[in-house]
Amino acid sequence: MDFNTLIQQRRSHYEYAKSTISDQTLIQLTKDLLSTTPSAFHSQSQRIVLLLGEKHDTFWDLVLERLRYEVPEEKFPRTQAKIQGLKNGQGTFLFYDDTDVTKQMEERFPLYGESAQLWAYESNAMLQYATWLGLTQLGLGASLQHYNPLIDQVTQDAFQLPAQWKLIAQMPFGSAVDIAKTKISQPVEDRMILKK
Ligand SMILES: Cc1cc2nc3c(=O)[nH]c(=O)nc-3n(C[C@H](O)[C@H](O)[C@H](O)COP(=O)(O)O)c2cc1C
Repeated sequence: MDFNTLIQQRRSHYEYAKSTISDQTLIQLTKDLLSTTPSAFHSQSQRIVLLLGEKHDTFWDLVLERLRYEVPEEKFPRTQAKIQGLKNGQGTFLFYDDTDVTKQMEERFPLYGESAQLWAYESNAMLQYATWLGLTQLGLGASLQHYNPLIDQVTQDAFQLPAQWKLIAQMPFGSAVDIAKTKISQPVEDRMILKK
């Protein structure tokens, strides 16, 4: 897939099925993403937890149980249907920042003040987008979810993750069975300035 097709193909999909892509391919993709995605001052504070198989199911069960306490009863069936659509997929990427590493960056560059925190998020966003494109290249559908911070503690406990890892985003994926929503984009000319 050429680059232009790839960026056009990447869309938000919310209902998935399992695909024929192997765990090994997904693990290799994760390694390639982590070893190549840039980070501020090459701090490499981005972390990924790749959930496959039963662990992917467990995660979405936990999310649903947590949401049961938050969502009004009459709206819960809709939430349940959305979560089921995601759970039917093949796996989930959890994106974390290792706050110990980001703190070190902050201490090394006191001149930049709180920018280190922003850069940590920017570095993470680069990893998220690269992951989304990587999944698209494999013919998979994905979406970006933010059930954090509601689910931070239950997720850390369930998968015994380091306490200093801060959850930033979740990306469920699978073979897309829904059609991406039509989106209306602003004229790009209004969003750019060309000087020559
Ligand atoms: C930083 C960021 C946060 C997002 N958070 C969510 C989210 O929490 N839940 C969700 O369903 N979609 C989320 N999205 C997806 C956007 O709604 C979606 O990308 C946008 O509507 C454009 O649609 P497209 O992805 O199909 O091009 C997020 C996207 C970005 C870039």
